[in-house]
Amino acid sequence: MEIYKACENRYDTMEYRRCGKSGILLPAISLGLWHNFGSVDIFDNFIQIAYTAFDNGITHFDLANNYGPAYGSAEENFGRILKKGLGAYRDELIISTKAGYDMWPGPYGNWGSRKYLMASLDQSLKRMGLDYVDIFYSHRPDPETPIEETIGALADIVHQGKALYVGISNYNAKQTENALSVFKSLNVPCLIHQARYSMFDRWVEPDLLQLLENKGVGMIAFSPLAQGLLTDKYLHGIPENSRAAKSTGHLQTSQVTAEKIGKIKLLNNLAIQRGQTLAEMALAWLLKDKRVTSVLIGASSVAQLKDNLKALHQTAFTPDELQEIENILK
Ligand SMILES: NC(=O)c1ccc[n+]([C@@H]2O[C@H](COP(=O)([O-])OP(=O)(O)OC[C@H]3O[C@@H](n4cnc5c(N)ncnc54)[C@H](OP(=O)(O)O)[C@@H]3O)[C@@H](O)[C@H]2O)c1
Repeated sequence: MEIYKACENRYDTMEYRRCGKSGILLPAISLGLWHNFGSVDIFDNFIQIAYTAFDNGITHFDLANNYGPAYGSAEENFGRILKKGLGAYRDELIISTKAGYDMWPGPYGNWGSRKYLMASLDQSLKRMGLDYVDIFYSHRPDPETPIEETIGALADIVHQGKALYVGISNYNAKQTENALSVFKSLNVPCLIHQARYSMFDRWVEPDLLQLLENKGVGMIAFSPLAQGLLTDKYLHGIPENSRAAKSTGHLQTSQVTAEKIGKIKLLNNLAIQRGQTLAEMALAWLLKDKRVTSVLIGASSVAQLKDNLKALHQTAFTPDELQEIENILK
């Protein structure tokens, strides 16, 4: 394979949004490596996805210690992609990783202790061949570890220069408030909160979104397509090459219910009326809210990624369209 050279026009079409009250702008669409970049996946496919992303202004790539499968293999593969040429653009990239879920055996390879977070980040840096990541996250709140310990470890990681910024993921509004007060006491800002948010999962709407806006923290929405449900993929059953069909996929066939398919069909009709695919409309629907800094998509092909990028062509909705969506989602 030839050495990668990025497209010269890569910054022409992407929209960038300020991440909370920070100096960082994130692309409205970011790419996550949870699925499709593991040791079970095809290198030539995912390297093209990564290159196409960067060629289209996606500067933000999101990982976690255990993305794969196997655990760690997405980081290793991303390290290979960096070595193949993307790494020449390191200063144009925002690379994030996380620790908080199961990673290695024994009491120190899970949750939110200082021991786990520090060791895990060192391992992640090694796997990716990096000196630092741009964002390091506590991947989930740990009910057993004092929040001062978890957030204190994040703050020290910033002081060590191993992450430029830090964030939290999957913390509810109350847990977020507690975490933010510890960040404040340590004089280290929390850059961003990463939370699941899509038309099918709106738990952030009642309080978290506004809390983050008020506190000047960015918000990146993961699984914005509900792992592929909010696309035209499942309109006629579960295709063989889909996440729901794969044994390594986190979307269970039990989640593809008749009720969901009914809603997907109605949403798909509306998307067609708007001149979009359902995937484009589902992303646009999130991006209409300026409190959402970025939508963090996954893609199993270059074609999907290109489809998703087109969401940016039309993020405005008429009041009637918004009402129709509410009626469908009820
Ligand atoms: N912080 C956390 O706890 C957490 C948890 C989950 C995810 N995340 C982050 O969020 C990222 C995205 O999550 P996700 O992969 O669940 O996001 P998603 O965008 O909701 O789902 C991505 C999947 O949908 C399908 N798809 C995407 N575009 C499509 C299109 N245009 N047409 C048809 N199908 C399409 C593909 O599945 P097929 O394989 O079926 O083609 C793709 O792999 C992850 O990579 C990770 O970085 C974070």
